[in-house]
Amino acid sequence: MAPPAGGRRYLPAEDTDLLRTALSPLAGGSCLEIGFGSGTALSSVSGRFDLAVGTDVMGAEEARLAIRPRVELVLADRARCFRDRVFDLVFFNPPYLPSATVEDAAVDGGPTGLEVPLSFLEEGLRVLKDGGVVVALLSTEGDVRSFLARCTSLGLEVEPMAEKRLFYETLSVFAIRRGGEDRRTPQS
Ligand SMILES: C[S@@+](CC[C@H](N)C(=O)[O-])C[C@H]1O[C@@H](n2cnc3c(N)ncnc32)[C@H](O)[C@@H]1O
Repeated sequence: MAPPAGGRRYLPAEDTDLLRTALSPLAGGSCLEIGFGSGTALSSVSGRFDLAVGTDVMGAEEARLAIRPRVELVLADRARCFRDRVFDLVFFNPPYLPSATVEDAAVDGGPTGLEVPLSFLEEGLRVLKDGGVVVALLSTEGDVRSFLARCTSLGLEVEPMAEKRLFYETLSVFAIRRGGEDRRTPQS
């Protein structure tokens, strides 16, 4: 679907913290965060990867405050500006709230709430190297079950990495790999 035109910058919250925690054992060559928001999660992994890149449809100016050296921020739709199979790790905390139209890029996930998360997954898998991993944070406020069912139908291997129960939702982080691959990168 077309990238959204507007919205507000997403400030770090419990989901950002859980994503950071889940990513903490991972290290390697190159990583991409789709939808870097404040840059907080990307900044946290940057010291463990040779190259850390983030894309967002919101500008990078404010996010630069949270970013470290050796991190590249790109104003772009998902991973559309990159070639196939170039990253060892791709991670995202996508917008997932059901919304008839996507007006707030930070939270609106499309008519069923699945459209944007699945579009992040599709692009993430396209730019993922052989043996790499996609790490996705999902919430019960979105349609986690259908997201995981789509992964299964695509032949992907999904492994739970972390979970946090809040009073109104449960946040979960999953590692997603192409089926039948060696788990060479990134290291953990
Ligand atoms: C839920 S926020 C997460 C922000 C940050 N990763 C975090 O965990 O705090 C989702 C982010 O995805 C971005 N986004 C939405 N659509 C996008 C697209 N098509 N391409 C890249 N980023 C997008 C939003 O602007 C927002 O920063």
